[in-house]
Amino acid sequence: MTQSPDPLLQLPPDCLHGALRLISYMLGEARSATDADDVLTRMAGLIRAGGVPLDRATSIVPLLHGALERSQTDEVVDLCAGGSGPWLRLEQEYRDATGAPLSVTLTDRYPNLEAMRFARQHSDDRLAFHPEPVDAMDVPPSLGGLRTLFNAFHHFRPDQARALLQDAADKGRGVAIFDGTDKRLLGVLMVMFAPLGVLFLTPLIRPFKLSRLFFTYLLPLIPFVVWFDGIVSVLRTYSVPELEALVAGVQGDHQWQAGALPIGGGVNITYLIGTPR
Ligand SMILES: C[S@@+](CC[C@H](N)C(=O)[O-])C[C@H]1O[C@@H](n2cnc3c(N)ncnc32)[C@H](O)[C@@H]1O
Repeated sequence: MTQSPDPLLQLPPDCLHGALRLISYMLGEARSATDADDVLTRMAGLIRAGGVPLDRATSIVPLLHGALERSQTDEVVDLCAGGSGPWLRLEQEYRDATGAPLSVTLTDRYPNLEAMRFARQHSDDRLAFHPEPVDAMDVPPSLGGLRTLFNAFHHFRPDQARALLQDAADKGRGVAIFDGTDKRLLGVLMVMFAPLGVLFLTPLIRPFKLSRLFFTYLLPLIPFVVWFDGIVSVLRTYSVPELEALVAGVQGDHQWQAGALPIGGGVNITYLIGTPR
C-alpha cells in the first residue's frame, strides 16, 4: 500500500484534480491521496461516459500496433498509469489481435504500488511497474519504448502538455495518447447523468461501507464529486484542432497524427500519436 502521511503533500500540480482527490480522501474512500485518485478514476471510469469507452480497448489496438511498429519497439512505458487504466484488458487484446509480443511497464508520478502489484499479479506478471515516481514531462532515458497515456492528458495544461510531448521528441521516443472523454454535446450530456449511475451502483460496491451510503444518499458528496470530476475532465479534453496546435509548438523530427476514433454509441476517443521519423 502507498504510504502517505499527509495527503496535501501528495497533491499533483493540478489543483482542481488535487481538491477532488482530497475530498475523496476525506470521505474515507481511500487510504492515501494516491489511492483517492485511483478511487475517483475507478468510480468515474466505471460510471461516466469518459471512462467507459477505454474499456472497449479493442478499437485502439490497430493505432497502438502502428505506433509500436513505427517506434521499432515492442515495449510500452505507460505514463500516469494510476490504477493501471485499461491495461489488464488491453495487453491481452493486443496480443490476441496481433500475435505480437508486448511488454508493458506502468509508471506514475505518484505510483499506487498496491494497484500496480494487483495489475502485475492479475496479468500473470505480464504487466510490470516502476516503483519510483516518474514525471511524464521528464521521463528517465532508462525507460525505453513507446510512451502511452490513457485518460490523463487532459490533466496537463497546454505548457505542460507541450513539455510532455517535447520530452518524448527530445529523447527519441514514440508517444501515444488516448483520452476517452468526449467534449461534444453527447459526451457532456452523458457525464451530466453520471451521478444517477452512482446512485444505482453504490449498493453494489465492495467492501461495504456505511460512510459511503451516508455520503451518497444523505449528504450526496460522492455523486457531486463524480459529476464535477466528469465535467471538468470532459471540458478540459483537448480537441483534435487543439492537439494539432500543441504539436505545432514541438521541436524535432517526430511525425504526429491526431484524430478522433468513433467507438460506438456516438462517442469518440481522441488520440495523438507521435513517432520518430
Ligand atoms: C486520471 S489518473 C489515471 C489515469 C489512468 N491512466 C487510467 O486510465 O485510469 C491520472 C494520473 O496521472 C498522475 N499524474 C499527475 N501528474 C503527473 C505527472 N506530471 N507525471 C506522471 N503522472 C502524473 C496521477 O498521479 C494520476 O495517477
